[in-house]
Amino acid sequence: MPDTSIGSRWELPRSFPDPSLAPVADDALELIGNTPLVRINRLAPGAPGTVYVKLDQFNLGGSSKDRIGINIIRTAIADGSLLPGQRVVDFGAGNTAIGYALAGLATGHPVTIVASDTLSPEKASYLRFLGVDIVPGRNDVPGDHPENWAAIAERYENEDPRNWWARQQSVPSNPASHIESTGPEIWEQTRGNVTHWLAAVATGGSVSGTGRYLKQRNPDIEVIATNFEEAAAKTNLRAIFERRPGWQELERDFPLNYDLDVLDRVETRPKAEIIDYGWHVARTEGLTLGPSSVLSLKIAVDLAFQVDAGSVIVAYSADSGRDYLSREYNADWLRANDLGHIADKYAPEV
Ligand SMILES: Cc1ncc(COP(=O)(O)O)c(C=O)c1O
Repeated sequence: MPDTSIGSRWELPRSFPDPSLAPVADDALELIGNTPLVRINRLAPGAPGTVYVKLDQFNLGGSSKDRIGINIIRTAIADGSLLPGQRVVDFGAGNTAIGYALAGLATGHPVTIVASDTLSPEKASYLRFLGVDIVPGRNDVPGDHPENWAAIAERYENEDPRNWWARQQSVPSNPASHIESTGPEIWEQTRGNVTHWLAAVATGGSVSGTGRYLKQRNPDIEVIATNFEEAAAKTNLRAIFERRPGWQELERDFPLNYDLDVLDRVETRPKAEIIDYGWHVARTEGLTLGPSSVLSLKIAVDLAFQVDAGSVIVAYSADSGRDYLSREYNADWLRANDLGHIADKYAPEV
């Protein structure tokens, strides 16, 4: 039984950081990008590799998707595909819509997001607070099903010319945002010493955009896509990434923002193991990370024991665990979802 109690098990920093390093922004939207990298000190004791986490919850809207939200809208305005006043419509897990909303408020574009029931209540409240319309859709039915979330987004665009479907799944401005920002930041922050880059995949933009930039600087950097075991089984991710027979047909049903030339391999872990680890990470490092971030961190920590000394492994944190306090990091939710053993371990009194 691990020690999950609160105790004085690591040292507090002796002082606050150098105030001359504190950033100043001329506009809120400048607070997208330049997020911190933090070293992991206690999760991989004695490992030859060093693990860092890129904390993209420090972006203005609280996730990595601010980068693509602002870049997709900026690019579409510049190339004339998004017309003045048009409504931005897309489907997704919620984070990108926050990015669209922030960019849309600045440029006069309202936003509609088609979301499945996996949208966390915290994100739904924030989206409504920003004025975003939330339309229910499903991601567990095929694309030709009328309730499929992509089918709904497409219908919105086809049925009303005032709507514009942003298509984060396939537009080049999604990975481009990571080629232009996340990649260069990590290169600078590690002074070019990064050896491994890991990020969870949905559209594939984060892992492959950042990976493309890093590989341009150093082709030996390993780029690892991470996914939950259950999700990867559903989407045949491994078969596609490993180019097994028939992979091209599978890929046709799949988002296009994967860059298979850049990705070295895919690693998966079961969701329950990662939720458990998310609680553990908070209590050993003081970092409260969203489940997809914990997934990449867990694989990075395991990797730290297998690599050569001097390896610098960077895992992407796409959003904060505070967005999941009523789901994966909530004892009642765990008990209602057959994960009571995790609640018993970390919150037995709740
Ligand atoms: C929390 C979180 N993690 C990971 C991802 C995956 O990022 P990408 O779409 O760039 O593959 C997303 C995207 O939806 C996300 O919201």
